[in-house]
Amino acid sequence: MSGAPERSEETPAPTTAALDIVIVGCGGFGREVADVIAAINARSSTGPVWNLLGYLDDAPTELNADRARRQGHQVLGPVSADTMAGRPHFVVGINSGSVRRVLAERLEASGWRPATLIDPDARIGSDCRIGEGTVLCPGAKITTNVTLGRHVQLNPNCTVGHDTVLNDYVSINPLAAVSGEIVLGEQVTVGSSAFIHQGLTVAAGTTVGASACVLRNQPEAAVLVGVPASELHSGEGC
Ligand SMILES: CC(C)(COP(=O)(O)OP(=O)(O)OC[C@H]1O[C@@H](n2cnc3c(N)ncnc32)[C@H](O)[C@@H]1OP(=O)(O)O)[C@@H](O)C(=O)NCCC(=O)NCCS
Repeated sequence: MSGAPERSEETPAPTTAALDIVIVGCGGFGREVADVIAAINARSSTGPVWNLLGYLDDAPTELNADRARRQGHQVLGPVSADTMAGRPHFVVGINSGSVRRVLAERLEASGWRPATLIDPDARIGSDCRIGEGTVLCPGAKITTNVTLGRHVQLNPNCTVGHDTVLNDYVSINPLAAVSGEIVLGEQVTVGSSAFIHQGLTVAAGTTVGASACVLRNQPEAAVLVGVPASELHSGEGC
């Protein structure tokens, strides 16, 4: 994303016909996304919103394929524009922002439409914008004047404070707290239970380690760990 996105996508209003959707990646987050879809459908007062066709995955492990089957879903095949003739909606259920970007750009170039999925138990404050392909898991909370770019992931029970911008392909892991007036560059990952202090800017590609406490601006991509956070090494993490 360059600058603040102007898109303001919501989960589509339920229609009589549920929309076909596939999840890219049958790993842990992908299967959590299936639960988000199930929750959206279960809480819709006018019938299912989404018809989950299954997962696309280039190299599913037998363990994850079996877990998907136990959810009642199949791995349909690899991520390929030929896999699904109907070009359903898609969401990339992979934590790595860089991998998510490659897959989303490939599918969008083939005419596939990203879905925006907001769990009914996520909370969205006033004056927020949410980009296409973004997923909010149960317990994720954004307060007021928050801008989420495209293909952003908010994992369970994370919080994002007022006047904050999360650019495209940002991942906020469970229980992380992003304070107010923050700008996270594209593909930033914030590890579980990490904290980012109010008013900071974090460079694109930075990974904030689990439980780190970021107290200073981060002008270049790096992997940050510790309290207060310092560089484990420079360069992109995930
Ligand atoms: C920070 C992180 C990206 C580093 O990964 P990595 O580059 O593979 O680093 P390593 O595991 O090789 O560890 C390198 C060193 O950093 C330390 N370290 C790693 N993560 C750390 C963290 N979060 N806090 C403090 N120290 C950490 C290791 O103990 C190790 O120290 P040592 O060299 O003294 O033994 C990763 O550990 C992390 O925290 N990722 C976020 C995980 C997360 O949120 N998962 C939830 C998914 S839902």
